[in-house]
Amino acid sequence: MQVSAIFALLLIIPLSIYGQSPLNGGQIIVNNQGLSNGALNANGGAAAILSSAPQPKDQIGKRRRKRQAVLVHQPQIHSTLRELFDNPNDKTDVDMHILFREHQPFPDHYSTFDNFSQYLSALNTHREPTNAERRQKLINDYGAEILDEFWLTNSMFVKMPLEHARRYAQEQEQHYILLHPGHEQGGVWGLQDLGIARQAVSSDWLYNAQASLNNLQGCIAVIDSGVRKTHAVFNSPNRINLTLDCVYGGSSCADASTNPTQYDVDDDCLSHGTTVASIISANSNAGDSLHGMSPACINSYKVFQTLHSAGTSTCTSYLNSTWVVTAIQAALANGDRIINLSLYTNCLNQSLCDVTHAVDAAHDLGAIIFVASGNDATQGQQKAPAHSSKVLTIGAVDLLNLTHTATYQASGPTSDGRIKPDLQAPSGFYTAYNGCGGNGNWCPTNNNGSNNGFWTVDGTSISTPIVTGAAYLLKKQLISYGAANPEPGLIYSWILSLTNGPQVTNTTGAGLLSLGWRQCTFMWQTFYANQYIVNNFAIDSASDSYGSKRMDVAIWWPEDSKQTVRHQVSLKLTSPQGILLAQTNAPQQVWQKITYMQPGNTRLPSGTYQIRIDVGTLQPTANYIRVFLTACTRPE
Ligand SMILES: *[C@@H]1O[C@H](CO)[C@@H](O)[C@H](O)[C@H]1NC(C)=O
Ligand SMILES: *[C@@H]1O[C@H](CO)[C@@H](O)[C@H](O)[C@H]1NC(C)=O
Ligand SMILES: *[C@@H]1O[C@H](CO)[C@@H](O)[C@H](O)[C@H]1NC(C)=O
Ligand SMILES: *[C@@H]1O[C@H](CO)[C@@H](O)[C@H](O)[C@H]1NC(C)=O
Ligand SMILES: *[C@@H]1O[C@H](CO)[C@@H](O)[C@H](O)[C@H]1NC(C)=O
Ligand SMILES: *[C@@H]1O[C@H](CO)[C@@H](O)[C@H](O)[C@H]1NC(C)=O
Ligand SMILES: *[C@@H]1O[C@H](CO)[C@@H](O)[C@H](O)[C@H]1NC(C)=O
Ligand SMILES: *[C@@H]1O[C@H](CO)[C@@H](O)[C@H](O)[C@H]1NC(C)=O
Repeated sequence: MQVSAIFALLLIIPLSIYGQSPLNGGQIIVNNQGLSNGALNANGGAAAILSSAPQPKDQIGKRRRKRQAVLVHQPQIHSTLRELFDNPNDKTDVDMHILFREHQPFPDHYSTFDNFSQYLSALNTHREPTNAERRQKLINDYGAEILDEFWLTNSMFVKMPLEHARRYAQEQEQHYILLHPGHEQGGVWGLQDLGIARQAVSSDWLYNAQASLNNLQGCIAVIDSGVRKTHAVFNSPNRINLTLDCVYGGSSCADASTNPTQYDVDDDCLSHGTTVASIISANSNAGDSLHGMSPACINSYKVFQTLHSAGTSTCTSYLNSTWVVTAIQAALANGDRIINLSLYTNCLNQSLCDVTHAVDAAHDLGAIIFVASGNDATQGQQKAPAHSSKVLTIGAVDLLNLTHTATYQASGPTSDGRIKPDLQAPSGFYTAYNGCGGNGNWCPTNNNGSNNGFWTVDGTSISTPIVTGAAYLLKKQLISYGAANPEPGLIYSWILSLTNGPQVTNTTGAGLLSLGWRQCTFMWQTFYANQYIVNNFAIDSASDSYGSKRMDVAIWWPEDSKQTVRHQVSLKLTSPQGILLAQTNAPQQVWQKITYMQPGNTRLPSGTYQIRIDVGTLQPTANYIRVFLTACTRPE
């Protein structure tokens, strides 16, 4: 009877998760060659929406699943802390970040509240009785000092004598304990303008075509070393909205009164945040070749403590992961839903990293997050938060040789076998910085920099904002196609399909970002599944004047980073004649991608292709998964 379940049978699912209908998608022909002055969905026939309603012809399968035993939670302890515990003579105090288990998960998604601050106060009210007890217990029974609390991860940052911490670690009630700051690295070389990088990912046509579309409501959060907001590329038109200091600015990152002499929102010596922000959205004041990927507004959250080194042209920076969690919280509270993180902490096991839990939770609240893969050339050592399964992790290719993975790029797989980076973008180009130092060096003391400074930089930190800026354009575009409030997964899926592939590897992920789908047929779907779903993808070669010869299909689904067992989901593409064209069943993944190239360099024949998604083993506690599907035809 398994097979007989092939009809349009909707799964029974709780709608409250994102407050959206279970089926949400459409198919569109983008036929935009030579378009110079219109939006893609303008009335001039540039694009035609074929079906904005859920597609009735598709088939969905369903099966009942046996209830599985509930997992027993053991306290998990970060290795750094475990080593301290193992030293019996150590009597010092220890800093711990305790992530608590949620005994009764808060049931409502934030979209059911009037605004985010209302959601937050309801969440805190829900947790407070339990957390009040935890606080009491920590203080009275363990001599702890509570240094900080985070709603995003339901966690407390505490200091306590090591001997008491050892005892506390035996408590079944707590979930995770962590501690460990990390450092950011940087490197310098190269000669090409940012414009060459934009050319490499073919994004300018979209940037130009969107001139008449409204900008998104939220800003992009740049969680980095601050930003030089006076730089020419950020003013008239203005790009920087908020500049905050999460090192000295308290839980809102804005409380300048706590530490007035040290509160400093500027990227005063590292130049890193200024560069990232300029790649995302520099204006054209320094010429078209130096404008950013998007016209987004930027909210800057400084999380690197930066210090000039007197007498030398160096800048030392220090990162404490709790500042990053603070920054992500503040970004969500400020309404930012696209977040760029080009930093890492030295935490390897994704179950045990505070920043990883924070980005996972931020995704669940609607944030699209991009993280740099890292510049330490490691393999299979992805650190927090690059190893998170709810972010896209970006690797780097040399701008001068787009098939060459940068030698410094950290590659996967993650410790649990997932492919990372998820995709790559160019690095090594000329873009804005804070104008200090000269000769590509950091700022020396008393060098006040310049508002017209540019330099050439390299690193996965530089490739990440390329994708962050692209995500802004894509989100804007999806909204114009009728996807009212695209969830992060839909953007992730589309980005993964917009890569040059064709092979998915541990080094390249899905390959180099490539937005060159100017004329194509594009479809997207969002649904819940626990057995299989077959989607129809109709292609009409006669209306495709661009001559599409390849088809890219991607699915992405959200999984908790702390789960060690992965959902197994496979993807198949079948021709209009029912012939299997391509399939993938890569294990341990949270996405799958197929690239199908029509043989003989000819165009894809017309007809209805079928995209089938089979859900195999699910994680023990899951009854279904949410799947984001995108498919796109392209000329090459
Ligand atoms: C990560 O930590 C979890 C929880 O302590 C443990 O079960 C898992 O084996 C660890 N993974 C690796 C790769 O060490
Ligand atoms: C959020 O909504 C509540 C209740 O509707 C209102 O009192 C409050 O002013 C709103 N806050 C913001 C920041 O809009
Ligand atoms: C821009 O900054 C103002 C405060 O100056 C803030 O109220 C507003 O939310 C910010 N806008 C966005 C889109 O983040
Ligand atoms: C990390 O930041 C927190 C909050 O500012 C602070 O209490 C703690 O001492 C810092 N830890 C380290 C190792 O810097
Ligand atoms: C953006 O992300 C990249 C990669 O993680 C990082 O190197 C860069 O510093 C980030 N930029 C900002 C402004 O956060
Ligand atoms: C580009 O990189 C590829 C892959 O590493 C290499 O095989 C090729 O020789 C490079 N091409 C040039 C012109 O350096
Ligand atoms: C330049 O930097 C020095 C040292 O940080 C500072 O005292 C001075 O006020 C700055 N000058 C200007 C014009 O900003
Ligand atoms: C990625 O690396 C793992 C571990 O070396 C290997 O088992 C897997 O086959 C690799 N995946 C791909 C797509 O090459």
